[in-house]
Amino acid sequence: MKKILIINGPNLNLLGTRQPEIYGQMTLKEIETKLKKLAAELKVEVCFFQSNHEGEIVDKIGKSKDEFNGIIINPAAYTHTSVAIRDAISAVELPSIEVHISNIYSREQFRHHSFIAPVCIGQIAGFGIDGYLFALKKIADLI
Ligand code: DQA
Repeated sequence: MKKILIINGPNLNLLGTRQPEIYGQMTLKEIETKLKKLAAELKVEVCFFQSNHEGEIVDKIGKSKDEFNGIIINPAAYTHTSVAIRDAISAVELPSIEVHISNIYSREQFRHHSFIAPVCIGQIAGFGIDGYLFALKKIADLI
């Protein structure tokens, strides 16, 4: 069975209570439950990883080549700062999709640039948690 790694970056462990007017009411656990259900329908396996530490995310991506067939990543604040996460995605050459819950282009200027998007198949932003579900459908089609 194809395996997809779903990575969530810093502060996404706080979903549910973190700025619900921007990120909604759903917790990361609840999002993961929805993704698991969809994965079963799509007949793919999903594995979740959340970290507030850039190096841990880099390590996880770096070790993913042999175990996974694709990556869905919400790099959170590291989207706008991390050359290291971008290089890790480039290095493993796994098809990857970038997801953002909010529309990063309608927010502060510093959120408008993504270091990660150019090394992904595509970016989904602004559709709340549905973005993760769409990304899973797309990546399951592609791998
Ligand atoms: C985010 C957008 C980022 O700018 C922010 O730093 C996050 C969450 C989103 O999902 O909308 O932590 O990635």
